[in-house]
Amino acid sequence: MSVSKRPKLVVGNWKMNGLRRDLAELTAIGEIGTACAPVQVAVAMPSPLIYPAARAAPGLQVGAQDIHPESGGAFTGGVSAAMVRDAGGGFALVGHSERRLSCGETDAIVQAKASAARRDGLSAILCVGEEAAARGQGQAETIVGRQLEASLPSTGDGAWLSIAYEPIWAIGAGHTPTLVEIAAMHAVIRRHCVVRLGEVGRSVRLLYGGSVTGANAGAILGLADVDGVLVGGASLRAATFAPIVRAAIR
Ligand code: 13P
Repeated sequence: MSVSKRPKLVVGNWKMNGLRRDLAELTAIGEIGTACAPVQVAVAMPSPLIYPAARAAPGLQVGAQDIHPESGGAFTGGVSAAMVRDAGGGFALVGHSERRLSCGETDAIVQAKASAARRDGLSAILCVGEEAAARGQGQAETIVGRQLEASLPSTGDGAWLSIAYEPIWAIGAGHTPTLVEIAAMHAVIRRHCVVRLGEVGRSVRLLYGGSVTGANAGAILGLADVDGVLVGGASLRAATFAPIVRAAIR
């Protein structure tokens, strides 16, 4: 599939930030997204803000930062994919490194969450990425390959699934891998998708995440097999997110 058939996707991740008073920023981000079509803009919100965010920014795809693998039941604190959808959400991040590390999420749990998203009508952005030590030992591609092997659902269509490569050492760090390293990892992930999903794997969008800013987004988004970016800190304000969205127009 040609790159043009994979519209660029710019995703914000507000992490545990934001109160209702901050939704004016989201409205402004939604307006930028509308102005920058066909670039697609989405923001993963804290759960209590999904419903008001979907109302505050109708032109924007709003989603969750995590979902529970089960549809419902005695899982205190859990939020199901169906609840996210009911609140106006359209997607969920699964397997973000902050959840893999601080909540003990295994690849098997991540796979179950991705499958739950598909089952209940959300698209999923499945996150993978290596720690600094693995990169230093030349093991980055092996580690990410293993994560994909164990966490990627074995069925799916390209539109439903995106994969975000977020090297853990680059998140919130102010530095990124080199463009050569990002391109190499995205090529590895693409090959993996094709082996796993067949031709459908060519339509899965691959995003880069980790210290993306308006200054580096253009170069990163210009790489082959980089179909979008996943943005933390710079997505919290329209002023810092807008240049990233604009960099996706090509
Ligand atoms: P930063 O853009 O703040 O580095 O965060 C990246 C990230 O974790 C997005 O999910």
